[in-house]
Amino acid sequence: MVFWLASPEKEAIAAITVYKSPTCGCCKEWISHLERHDFAVSVVNRNDVLPKKRELGVPTRLYSCHTARVAGYVVEGHVPAEDIMRLLERKPNIRGIGVAGMPIGSPGMEQGSRKDPYTVFAFDKSHNTSVFSRH
Ligand code: CU
Ligand code: CU
Repeated sequence: MVFWLASPEKEAIAAITVYKSPTCGCCKEWISHLERHDFAVSVVNRNDVLPKKRELGVPTRLYSCHTARVAGYVVEGHVPAEDIMRLLERKPNIRGIGVAGMPIGSPGMEQGSRKDPYTVFAFDKSHNTSVFSRH
């Protein structure tokens, strides 16, 4: 009879690479949020995050602090893990999704009980945007 004393590590949902400034705290909070949802996160610190956003085709109006790459998609800003999971399930023909700025109450931007409404936008190669989800 074989006993497994240690359960195998939970399998990661997806590998995600996060480009962020080394000094930004809310990016770290967002990374913790992803890790709590079983994403395997790699972090790349950049003193200037803007060139990466341009390279990855993030529309200027959606710029936030950090930018991530997951399964060929771009994720900009404080997007909830559940939206990334939906993106990976549905595999829409878009470039990525993003939340503009830093809405209070979004993952990584928690401040007490305050929760400002915010929208996750989908964007394509030509920087067209459409609503992906509302929170
Ligand atoms: Cu932030
Ligand atoms: Cu940040």
